Amino acid sequence: MPDAPSDTALSAPPAPARAGGELFTEERSAEVVAASFADTPNPRLQQIMTSLVHHLHAFVKDVELTEEEWGEAITFLTRTGQMCDDVRQEFILLSDVLGVSMLVETINHRTGGTSTESTVLGPFHMVESPPRELGENIALDGKGEPCLVTGQVTGPDGEPLPGALVDVWQANDDGFYDVQQPGIQPERNLRGLFTADDDGRFWFRTIVPRYYPIPDDGPVGELLAATGRHPNRPAHVHFIVTAPGHRPVTTHLFVDDSPYVDSDAVFGVKESLIREFPAVDDPTRAAEVGLPNPFRTVHFDVALLRADQAPPTAQPADVQPTVVKGVPS
Ligand code: BEZ
Ligand code: FE
Repeated sequence: MPDAPSDTALSAPPAPARAGGELFTEERSAEVVAASFADTPNPRLQQIMTSLVHHLHAFVKDVELTEEEWGEAITFLTRTGQMCDDVRQEFILLSDVLGVSMLVETINHRTGGTSTESTVLGPFHMVESPPRELGENIALDGKGEPCLVTGQVTGPDGEPLPGALVDVWQANDDGFYDVQQPGIQPERNLRGLFTADDDGRFWFRTIVPRYYPIPDDGPVGELLAATGRHPNRPAHVHFIVTAPGHRPVTTHLFVDDSPYVDSDAVFGVKESLIREFPAVDDPTRAAEVGLPNPFRTVHFDVALLRADQAPPTAQPADVQPTVVKGVPS
């Protein structure tokens, strides 16, 4: 017969030492969870997690999130992940339509007003642009309104940057990138890598870009539809401009009279990047540049910061702190 349990075995285990720890309550939820990161060895990770928890808890309290809504959110994020593969990045698209991509881009590439502003990279720079001669035509599918693009790459004080690399890509006249239509568009259609001349100047032939929708057949498209938003981006040409000793810039040239210039689905438009594309009706000039008459033109100068220049800091007008109770500023 087994021994009767002793008094010691029956008694409750000693209460855990809380060592100043605090149990979870609705009121103090953020502080309690943030305290769990107190021993994070990486101080930046600790700062990020602490702030994230405070903002996240404030959001849940603000909207009094229901269990059903949180479940829907988890399902949405799960489906967003499931939509991702080697060529589709639905999480970046989500970040784009929430304006987070543009905010991170803008904070990390402040110009101080002395260089060309940046904007989102987008998902269609997935193949290398082919090196092309200055003046070459990148429109290989023969569709669209012919256009001559000219510009000059300079440093912050206007000094020309000979040999700067100008990488450009754009959608075709149907609003698709070559990589979205393999077998329909010629490979590397509307892409080119140009080397600026001795004065930092570049020029190439193309077509006037057209507005187009971002991929909207996944969870991000559903979110846009559910919130009454359209998926379109205004007409633009993508640029990445690099020069030795200078900070590269990833940017766009926007067509001023394009639909959606005031309502870009990914918030990529900056006033300084919008240009007119005036028409030229001059058969002699058309023959000189190798385009049919009439044609459109656009001039887009690009100024790069020197690599050794201190990054400009935020101006007070840029910073509107969101106050969340308890987040150390
Ligand atoms: C683009 O311009 O190529 C782009 C940018 C963000 C999301 C989707 C497309
Ligand atoms: Fe684009």
